[in-house]
Amino acid sequence: MTVAIYPGSFDPLTNGHLEILRSGLVAFERIVVAVVSNPRKQGLFSSEERVAMIRESIGDDPRVEVDAFDGLLMDYCRRKGVRVVLRGLRAVADFEYELQMANMNRHLYPEVETCFIMAHDAFFYVSSSLVKEVARLGGDVRALVPPAVARRLAAKLASSGTS
Ligand code: PNS
Repeated sequence: MTVAIYPGSFDPLTNGHLEILRSGLVAFERIVVAVVSNPRKQGLFSSEERVAMIRESIGDDPRVEVDAFDGLLMDYCRRKGVRVVLRGLRAVADFEYELQMANMNRHLYPEVETCFIMAHDAFFYVSSSLVKEVARLGGDVRALVPPAVARRLAAKLASSGTS
């Protein structure tokens, strides 16, 4: 069975992430969406909240597992026995960061390959950071994120007094 791990901060999940997942399921029989706590990024949602939003947005799909982990992605791949990492690629700006990570991961665990899927043009400009910024400043992000995320984002911003 072809299995891939789709890792990310998913803080929060966007429709762009969902499109990458849908495309990924054309190539892979099973995908593990893995929420990572990224120490370089200050998260708005806890990793439990991110997992819950992803599960709610995907619904019941036996081909998709949603999980969370701390530590190195390559250690997680080893534990899961998975040898493919799936990442979405948007603009040129993503390329250098992704190339660096893919090569570092290859150095750490040469048996793993990173596989990229090009972002859909409708979501080329969508990122979790921009979605959060726009939402914080009162913009409408309902077309950019799944309904479950839009609801939780509004509630989170209201409770933290930033909307
Ligand atoms: O959605 P993001 O923030 O672009 O995802 C980046 C992520 C989480 C995939 C990356 O930071 C990661 O793999 N973090 C886990 C820790 C790790 O393995 N770091 C070394 C990466 S080369």
